[in-house]
Amino acid sequence: MRIFSGMQPSGDLHLGNYLGALRQWVASQNPDAFYCVVDLHALTLPIEPATLARQRTELFATFLASGLDPEVSTIFFQSDVAYHAQLNWLLECVASFGELGRMTAFKEKAERGEGYRVGLFTYPVLMAGDILLYETEEVPVGDDQRQHLELCRDLAQRFNHRYGETFRVPRAVVPPVAARVMDLQEPTRKMSKSLSSPLGSIFIVDPPEAIARKVARAVTDTDGEVRPDWEHKPGLTNLLEIFASFEGSSVEAVAERYTRYGDLKRDLSELVVSSLAPIRERYAELLAAPEHLADLAARGAAAASEVAGPVYERAARAMGLG
Ligand code: AMP
Ligand code: TRP
Repeated sequence: MRIFSGMQPSGDLHLGNYLGALRQWVASQNPDAFYCVVDLHALTLPIEPATLARQRTELFATFLASGLDPEVSTIFFQSDVAYHAQLNWLLECVASFGELGRMTAFKEKAERGEGYRVGLFTYPVLMAGDILLYETEEVPVGDDQRQHLELCRDLAQRFNHRYGETFRVPRAVVPPVAARVMDLQEPTRKMSKSLSSPLGSIFIVDPPEAIARKVARAVTDTDGEVRPDWEHKPGLTNLLEIFASFEGSSVEAVAERYTRYGDLKRDLSELVVSSLAPIRERYAELLAAPEHLADLAARGAAAASEVAGPVYERAARAMGLG
């Protein structure tokens, strides 16, 4: 199955990234799968060059530490394969201003005024190109990326209609639980990399004490009944989702076993700590060997280019170039 997905090196990965996306990637990896550190996307918001340089390596290491195997699938940096930037331009000339203006992720991030970077506006086009370059069938992502996937499908269909059959039309694959992990302090907001809520996000590389503290302080409610109810009990329901996702069960199955919030939180904390501990250890080992990571990334980029090159050429020719 041809799979493509990507993540931005814009900060430490949290449980939302892990349960919503990365763990699905690990489960679905195969010789036909491509997983990408989308470093060009990280330039859409202000970021120091030194910070980006460090975070892109850290994200690559996190992919491997979580179980993605470079012997099985292709793992690479977006900026190492120039076809991504090239196809982006062709697709910018297919996408319309109006449809990009309707993207909710853009509207949220651009709220602060018109000084935003043009790349923030055109970001979903670059993303569409990432996916289409690999003749992707499935894109495993969290719930917040659905709208971007719809745009990608629209652009592929429009291109095919206008210039002849060129791109395969992909579909999003969203996990059945934990597709939208919420902030532990403000459970009506999705968990994010931003540091505005230091107790709200659990990071994959958090030490056990930090995880325990964040779970213990997670906001719940006062009715005292353990049952899933997104509308009235979002905090508790979020904890049940995280539990069910790690355990591979359902929120109902977890809720049935508990009558007290304290017991649920204690067991959840242990489960998260023990699930993440091996990833954290492996991450530290990998970062200690940067040349090895660079070598793997170079091999990944070469393999990715072999697939992306012919697709890019086909698209360029269809438009009358080359
Ligand atoms: P990003 O951090 O925006 O690069 O997202 C990388 C991946 O993680 C995408 O597939 C997102 O859909 C997914 N993701 C991000 N935040 C969450 C969240 N709070 N819950 C579930 N999935 C998420
Ligand atoms: N926009 C995605 C996010 O913020 C990251 C991304 C870029 C992506 N290109 C992609 C995800 C291609 C899937 C496929 O999460």
